[in-house]
Amino acid sequence: VPVDEFDLIIFGGTGDLAMRKLLPALFHREGDGQITGDSRIIAASRGEVSRDDYLARVETALRENLADTFNEQQWQTFRNRIHYVQADAGAHDQWGELVAILAGHDHRTRVAYLATAPGLFGAFANGLRHNGLITGDSRIVLEKPVGHDSASADAINNAVGECFAENQIFRIDHYLGKETVQNLLALRFGNSLFEPLWRRGTIDHVQITVAEDLGVGGRGEYYDRIGALRDMVQNHLLQLVCLVAMEPPSSLDHDAVRDEKIKVLRALRLISADNVKTNTVRGQYAAGAIKGQPVESYQDEMGGVASSCETFVALKLEIDNWRWSNVPFYIRTGKRLKAKHSEIVLQFQDVPHSIFSEQSYDISPNQLMIRLQPDEGVKLSVMAKEPGPGGFDLRPVSLDLSFEETFGVRYPDAYERLLMEVLRGNPALFMRRDEVSAAWNWIDAIIAGWEETHQKVESYVAGSWGPTSSSFLLDRDGRAWHPES
Ligand code: BG6
Repeated sequence: VPVDEFDLIIFGGTGDLAMRKLLPALFHREGDGQITGDSRIIAASRGEVSRDDYLARVETALRENLADTFNEQQWQTFRNRIHYVQADAGAHDQWGELVAILAGHDHRTRVAYLATAPGLFGAFANGLRHNGLITGDSRIVLEKPVGHDSASADAINNAVGECFAENQIFRIDHYLGKETVQNLLALRFGNSLFEPLWRRGTIDHVQITVAEDLGVGGRGEYYDRIGALRDMVQNHLLQLVCLVAMEPPSSLDHDAVRDEKIKVLRALRLISADNVKTNTVRGQYAAGAIKGQPVESYQDEMGGVASSCETFVALKLEIDNWRWSNVPFYIRTGKRLKAKHSEIVLQFQDVPHSIFSEQSYDISPNQLMIRLQPDEGVKLSVMAKEPGPGGFDLRPVSLDLSFEETFGVRYPDAYERLLMEVLRGNPALFMRRDEVSAAWNWIDAIIAGWEETHQKVESYVAGSWGPTSSSFLLDRDGRAWHPES
């Protein structure tokens, strides 16, 4: 369904996120006919850039990012929507260009997307208010991270909250826009098969891996202050934990889902100085090789500085409620790991008794694997008998569903979905203020624990699956990461 005419202002319009994600996503939506009438994309940034120069930059970025889906004719329509204005977060009185371009367009949906450093969120919200640019139908989008701890997140939320009502604020976690993540809801609540088994007594443990083979690239300055726990766990991985662990919401209504997610965050057992050593592993990549190509260490990539920033983290977490008591969730994420590979694995309990005990084969526990990346799909491993007249040899086989093959469509990027949801005014896939703050509270305790106990950052070879302690985290409990590493 096409969205109503809108003005979308992208602060940080010359930045990486705008060029690599937001504009390509909007270009795809244009191609699908979802952007109508004279809807406009108004890029704003500090620099003085002419509209033509800006358009040239966008065209280059789209050709690079979209490759074979770039379409000349579509570009001619799309480019007419794009404008550029100069607007500095610190100089609200000089937003004349923005004020002028928006004048007379108060009746349409107005969205301000803050693709900037979080420290500027309050200043941009204030600038919009100061210049009288917040209409009744205005929304503001905050890119993650909202702050770097609980206090800074509160300060940002307060500052933005003085200008916009909570239902006008859309906090992005792009994992919630991924098709497979939404499919998790379909799998759990659109089938009666899994839900009765989705609990202690049947599930032995849950694993979540979000592995990347890329290093920190040009984002070093940001990343070195943040590290993997804040960059990935506070948001993406905890959101995945919530969707796996939450109770069935009564509907897909935005608050019904978010109310269930927050109960999970509040039930997470605290990891702090007392237990941080046994429940967390921090790592940083040393030089190594990825797909046969040598890559440098994190510190060399950062220009040879000494740094104790973690580029890998593994955690064992426990959810203190009836459904998940004694069912650990092991989660890990890191840069420069062996491959880009993200999945959620629910491992079922062992069979209570094996009638095949005379055979040499072990019975592997069933696993339900939900793959997020690179090829999205669901796989269920079950034991089957090897064909043949003699003996009774068992081996695990999988019932495999690849979404892309099954549905035969291009998988939209998460931002395509999320931008349309903002324009439609549906906040279900965005983080509510209390979620962000519950997640930060839990993360803050871990960071304080690391500082208090001086927990060391272990080195791992780039192209491996992380430090060896990450395997011990499971090994100690008689378990192993899948795929075994
Ligand atoms: C971002 C993180 O939120 O997610 C990046 O800041 C990370 O460090 C990225 O690379 C991963 O996203 P995806 O969609 O490629 O898994």
